[in-house]
Amino acid sequence: MARIEGIQIKNYGVLKDVVLGKTFSNQSGKPLGNLTAVIGSCGSGKSTMADVFGFISDCLRIGVEDACEANNRGGFEALRSIGSEEPISFEIYYREKNNSRPITYELQIDIDKTGRPYILEERLRQRVKDKGWPLSFLYIKKGKGYAFIGTEGGQDENGVITGEKCDVDLADIRRPGIVTLGAMKQYNRIERFLDFLNSWYLCYFSPDAARQMQTSMPQSYLNRTGNNINNVAQFMYRDNPKIFEKVLESIQQKLPGITKIEPKKLETSQMVLRFFEHGFDKPIYSNRMSDGTLKLFAYYLLLHEKNPRQFVFMEEPENGLYHHFLDDLAGEIKSMLGNTTLRQFFVTTHSPFFVNALTPDDVWVLKKGEDGFSYAKRASEYEFVKELAEEGVALGDMWYSKYFG
Ligand SMILES: Nc1ncnc2c1ncn2[C@@H]1O[C@H](COP(=O)(O)OP(=O)(O)OP(=O)(O)O)[C@@H](O)[C@H]1O
Ligand SMILES: [Mg+2]
Repeated sequence: MARIEGIQIKNYGVLKDVVLGKTFSNQSGKPLGNLTAVIGSCGSGKSTMADVFGFISDCLRIGVEDACEANNRGGFEALRSIGSEEPISFEIYYREKNNSRPITYELQIDIDKTGRPYILEERLRQRVKDKGWPLSFLYIKKGKGYAFIGTEGGQDENGVITGEKCDVDLADIRRPGIVTLGAMKQYNRIERFLDFLNSWYLCYFSPDAARQMQTSMPQSYLNRTGNNINNVAQFMYRDNPKIFEKVLESIQQKLPGITKIEPKKLETSQMVLRFFEHGFDKPIYSNRMSDGTLKLFAYYLLLHEKNPRQFVFMEEPENGLYHHFLDDLAGEIKSMLGNTTLRQFFVTTHSPFFVNALTPDDVWVLKKGEDGFSYAKRASEYEFVKELAEEGVALGDMWYSKYFG
C-alpha cells in the first residue's frame, strides 16, 4: 500500500541528473500522484526512465553485475552517462501509507578496478517520530555497515544511535543488502520495503506473446509480456466472475461487437480464450484475435487485479489501440487509482489523446538539453498550462498545440 513520492536518477544513460517529484534531497518538490505520465520526443529518455525501474528490479533479482547486462543493457559502461566517472545512483522516496513517515532508499552502483559492477553504497532512512531529522536504519558501504531491528530507530549523521543496531557484513557486494536483510523477519521495515519493490509490475505486453499456447493453470497476475493472459483470465473467471463480467463490460463499451469472452480448457490441457462476436455463431480463439482487442483485455485484467500490485509501469499503452479509446482508458486508469496509496501507475506516452484525460501535475516532459542529457519538467511548471487547464482546456490539446513539451 505504498506510493513513490519522488525519484532521483543520476548517471543512468541520458538521465544524468533527473528528479521527479519530492525526494529526500529535493524536499521542495511536489510529491508524485497516483498516475505519472512521461512524455517527450524520441530519444528523450522515456524508455530509459522505464528501464530505471526494470534495472532496480533486476538488481534485486539477479544482482547488479547481471542486471547491467540483462535486457540488452550492454554493461555498466554503456549504461553510465557518457563522460561521467561517478556511480550510477538512485534515490527513491516513498510512503507506505498516506499518514506514514516517508522512507528514502539510496542505491549507488560503481565498478571495481577490474571493471566489475558492485554496490558502492546503500541506505534506507526515515524521519524519527515527532522529531524532524532522519535516521538511517540501513547503511552499507562496500558490503559493510549496519541495520536496525524493528519498526523504529536508526543512526543520525553524528553517529547517535536510537534502537537496536546490528553490524552487517555481506558475503556478496553485487547483491543489494535489502535482499538479504529483508528476508529476515526482525528487519520489519526492510522486509516491507523489499516486498514493495518485489511487487512492481513492468508491463511490456505483446499481443504475439499473448497468442502463444498456454497450458491450463490459473494465475493471479499477468506477467511482463502477457504470455499467461489465458491463465489470468481463467483465474478471474473462476475466482471472481463478477469482476470478470466487469472486464467484459468495459471491453464491450469500446468493442460492442464482442458479446462474450470465455476461457476454455482444451482436451490437450491447453488453455485458450474464446471470443464470441456479434453475427457469428462460432467463437474466435485468442490466437486469431486482433492485437488491440487482446491489449484492451490485458489492460482491463490488470486494472481489476485481486490484491492489486502496487506499482505498475507501462510503456506507450496507446500502441495498437484506436485513438478514440485512449482518453477513456487514461480516465479509467485515473478513476481506478483514485486518491489512495493503493496503487500507482507510471506510463510513457506519445499520445495527446491519452494525455487529454490527465492533469498538469500528472505529466512530466523529458527534453534533451545542450549537453545532450535530458532534464525533466512537470507540465504544471509551464507558463499558462495550469491556468488553461483550470479553464477546461484539455492537456493533450495544449501539448499538441505546443503550449508545452
Ligand atoms: N550512456 C549513455 N549516455 C548518454 N546518453 C545515452 C547513453 N546511452 C543511450 N543514450 C541516449 O539515450 C537516448 C534515450 O533513449 P530512450 O530509448 O530512453 O528514448 P525514448 O524517449 O524512449 O524515445 P522513443 O520515443 O523513441 O521511444 C538514446 O537515444 C541515446 O541517444
Ligand atoms: Mg522509448
